[in-house]
Amino acid sequence: MEPEAKSRTWLAPAKINLALHVTGRRADGYHLLDSLAVFARFGDRLQIGPAERDAFSVSGPFAGGVPVSGDNLVVKAREALRREAGARQTPPVAIRLEKNLPIASGVGGGSSDAAAALNGLARLWELDIDEAGLARIGLSLGADLPMCLKAKPLIARGIGDELSPLTEFPALALVLVNPGVAVSTPEVFKALSRRENEALPGLPRSLDFHGVRNWLEMTRNDLEDAARSIQPGIGEALKALKKAGAAFARMSGSGATCFGLFETGNFAKRAAIEIRARHPGWFVAATRSMEAD
Ligand code: C5P
Repeated sequence: MEPEAKSRTWLAPAKINLALHVTGRRADGYHLLDSLAVFARFGDRLQIGPAERDAFSVSGPFAGGVPVSGDNLVVKAREALRREAGARQTPPVAIRLEKNLPIASGVGGGSSDAAAALNGLARLWELDIDEAGLARIGLSLGADLPMCLKAKPLIARGIGDELSPLTEFPALALVLVNPGVAVSTPEVFKALSRRENEALPGLPRSLDFHGVRNWLEMTRNDLEDAARSIQPGIGEALKALKKAGAAFARMSGSGATCFGLFETGNFAKRAAIEIRARHPGWFVAATRSMEAD
């Protein structure tokens, strides 16, 4: 069989923190979080297949600036899994990453790529490793990796690694907007003025669009002010989403990507067209989040 025939493409979805409260700080400097995260039906794509020797390449609109060496989280994920399973079980692979998400932008791009690599490689190599094993390897690569491995609506606590998947959560019509600026996560955490905030309020019983929006009004992204002080462009993105009719707008993760919530997919698509026309240099994507199953 041709190697290409065995290759498979995996979506590395954008991670969106609908709410993110910073509740404390660990002795090692990592922050304790309480966050509700969802995953988009849009993201990077990873094609993974057998090859004569290991290969890794990057294409797509945000390929520039992505390291293709051992610094890339995808390569680190491949090597971490290989160390765990042994070289005999893990023959060479070719991985092609299509980078559709902006870099260092608060939607978990690199973590989601690495999570897709772990899931895809474990399947291709037919490894006898369970979800908890993959999450453990993932966590050694980054705090967001375990949630990206799940890619379902969830509450994340601890440093983002203690996960409670939601049994009920609707698909949401969203527009993602990045004003073309990268933000360093450690810098944003460093710029926080308050590190001990209250936990998220409980979720309401009725989780339709209105229920979700009302709940969002009671929550925050505690990283937003710190990120805006570093990158004022974030305020422009939020303003543009509201002007285009978003029922709710907030920054995701440590920024700079912001999301707008819309009542229908058509409203979201129209808003995306409007924002793109006004801000041709920005990243703008209308998408739907994945619901709980
Ligand atoms: O784990 P990861 O490498 O993705 O985290 C990047 C940086 O973000 C950490 O070095 C740390 O400065 C900060 N961080 C944090 N608390 C978290 C997650 C990340 O302070 N829960």
